[in-house]
Amino acid sequence: AEALRVGIAGLGTVGASVARVLTEKATELTRQCGRPITVAAASARDRNRDRGVDLSAAQWFDDPVELARTADIDVFIELIGGDDGPALASVKAALEAGRHVVTANKALLSKHGVALAEIAESRGVLLNYEAAVAGGIPIIKTMREAMAGNNVSRVFGILNGTCNYILTRMEAEGLSFDDCLRDAQHLGYAEADPTFDIEGHDTAHKLSILTSLAFGCKISADNIYMEGISNISQADIRAAGELGYRIKLLGVALQTETGIEQRVHPTMVPTSSVIAQVHGVTNAVAVETDILGELLLSGPGAGGNATASAVVGDIADIAKSRPGFQHGPVFGRPARELKPYKKAQ
Ligand code: NDP
Ligand code: HSE
Repeated sequence: AEALRVGIAGLGTVGASVARVLTEKATELTRQCGRPITVAAASARDRNRDRGVDLSAAQWFDDPVELARTADIDVFIELIGGDDGPALASVKAALEAGRHVVTANKALLSKHGVALAEIAESRGVLLNYEAAVAGGIPIIKTMREAMAGNNVSRVFGILNGTCNYILTRMEAEGLSFDDCLRDAQHLGYAEADPTFDIEGHDTAHKLSILTSLAFGCKISADNIYMEGISNISQADIRAAGELGYRIKLLGVALQTETGIEQRVHPTMVPTSSVIAQVHGVTNAVAVETDILGELLLSGPGAGGNATASAVVGDIADIAKSRPGFQHGPVFGRPARELKPYKKAQ
């Protein structure tokens, strides 16, 4: 069968891992998808940097927007980052050109997700974003496709691997905040600007996407109370421990009688609770519904491999879809029908 041709824009921690997995797992993926997936085009700032993967067969573009618009591809994969600039321009260009898009960019979706979904839905193409929330955990597919008929009352969890890694090591090894953050950056967990991790923005971006899926509303990151972990000290961690608690950065969204409440803040959780046992870069997402009850998914929340797993899963879904197949809406219901966001009083 004809190969699915993908173009990757951004060859950093995630982009290079995706290219590597597509290469190393080519045989398995061809068998699973019924056709090969080939990297036909690539873009990054530095053409000469060694990415640890052979991209010589891919057409090179210095400009990701040009790649999105003109490359001979079926799927555009955005792994640049940022909520505007080349990420937004290239995703828009790809959707408008009728190409499917896969992205891991929660900042972009949090700000422009509904508008981009409208373009994707009007063009009949897919905008897949499993990797944007909680890394390798398949929470988007779970909430969008596997929970039909459920009314969600609350969704919450540990949504940032960098923060959980820092808090875990500060407690277990007595290391300083700065040393732990530096290690998280070296391991490829942190955002290009780690302020987004430690001040709670990244958790807020992810939470805003989960809120839309949970409650069928437009994405609203502006309506999130936000407090990060940059002021958490060893003394705070010790004091919590003496009282039988552990400090975790949680994102919480719930439906109240007056509207939706969304918040991100360090939280003292009982040491014996399941959420307190989520260590290191692991994330966990809990969803409470009327039919299912309480669901808890946990797994690797950041890093090249975990994120590439989710991105490749999204690409494989496109490879398996057949021409003429009607794709489901990006955020669970058609973008034009998402309810206005109503903030709790
Ligand atoms: P990196 O900073 O490691 O990589 C970014 C890539 O984008 C680099 O290859 C860079 O090029 C390229 N780039 C930047 N600006 C441009 C531009 N103007 N034109 C072309 N290429 C450009 O980021 P990550 O791989 O960590 O993250 C990528 C995305 O995935 C982000 O949206 C992030 O939030 C998301 N994500 C990251 C996870 C992680 O664990 N790291 C997990 C889940 C999501 P060059 O290499 O030449 O500098
Ligand atoms: N910087 C993010 C984190 C990457 O640490 O969770 C995964 O989205």
